[in-house]
Amino acid sequence: MTPTPRSAPTGATTTAITHIGSLVTNDPSLGQGPLGLIQDAAVVIEGDRVVWVGTSSRAPATDSHVDAEGRAVIPGFVDSHSHLVFAGDRTAEFNARMEGRAYSAGGIRTTVAATREASDAELDGNVARYVAEALRQGTTTIETKSGYGLTTDDEERALRIAARHTEEVTFLGAHIVAPEYADDPAKYVELVTGPMLDACAPHARWVDVFCERGAFDGDQARAILTAGARRGLTPRVHANQLGTGPGVQLAVELQAASADHCTHLTDADVDALAASGGRTVATLLPGAEFSTRATWPDARRLLDAGVVVALSTDCNPGSSFTSSMPFCVALAVRDMGMTPNEALWAATAGGARALRRSDVGGIAVGMRADLVLLDAPSHVHLAYRPGVPLVRAVWRKGARAL
Ligand code: NIG
Ligand code: FE
Repeated sequence: MTPTPRSAPTGATTTAITHIGSLVTNDPSLGQGPLGLIQDAAVVIEGDRVVWVGTSSRAPATDSHVDAEGRAVIPGFVDSHSHLVFAGDRTAEFNARMEGRAYSAGGIRTTVAATREASDAELDGNVARYVAEALRQGTTTIETKSGYGLTTDDEERALRIAARHTEEVTFLGAHIVAPEYADDPAKYVELVTGPMLDACAPHARWVDVFCERGAFDGDQARAILTAGARRGLTPRVHANQLGTGPGVQLAVELQAASADHCTHLTDADVDALAASGGRTVATLLPGAEFSTRATWPDARRLLDAGVVVALSTDCNPGSSFTSSMPFCVALAVRDMGMTPNEALWAATAGGARALRRSDVGGIAVGMRADLVLLDAPSHVHLAYRPGVPLVRAVWRKGARAL
């Protein structure tokens, strides 16, 4: 394969990572297959960008140099779905589920109560802790949501805190109907689409709704997502997690960036996602099925239909208290019909597609230098050696972060 040309020098420090046994670029023009795999590869970083990718023996001279000694390098994981602004945990609820109780969205209220009680400093510290935890497992881009405040002030506060830690911030005032409005859900939808949206829109990029029985129906979800879109927020939808319903088709109709969960799908849902031509990504969240002992989403069915699939953690205290993308990759391969190559793509390039980002999720000239060095000869080990901490080093925006 031909090494990519070096981009114009910026004068920033250059670092080469050489003798990479197996490099995942996610650029088919750079190497083998959809992952654009290159054996015995090198990558050169300048400032926060990748400036050269090719075979190790042809790597240009640089200011500093790291020898990968045959280990694999992959793009940093892009976790396009998490809920990190919360306080407390739900250990008791998890225990009850493992004794046979079913998951219910009602548990969200427990976290809402704890989150409202928490100070800004406590919430900020929690987000920092989970973002750092994710980084140690190779996540270099993470989306996160509000949704445990459910008052205008508490939702706005959650988004302000989230925005200190990531640029991918989602307004989820419509997580459940706030307890104060239990008898008048229509009034809560008015609040979410009115004053709450006014306060929250400036702090977010995305708007999300939990469209599910027990949360918001199709009409309510449509009203909230279109109101968000009018305020410049792009929709994404919690859809078809607990049963079939209108979420997925609404997401496609409103050109949402992603329909998330996609656990219970009709053929018409799969067709709609496929017909979107990748505009609406199906984001699968196997941590949720693991932690709620639910049926696995059928990734194979989606991939065979031509749907673009992303994998994310859904990290939250109720349904999926994991920040580990390697864990989600292993579950997707073992239980959702994905090959190791498909799962790696979905956890990196797929997440980037779900966030409509072209600067992350791959390793190519001009992209952000977000790289993970694995203690393994190839990315396949992420599924082959589940539960083993294989992340040896991380570069984020060109800087060594681990
Ligand atoms: O994506 N499904 C809705 N929201 C979260 C769960 C939130 C919770 O249980 O606290 C999810 O699984
Ligand atoms: Fe979620």
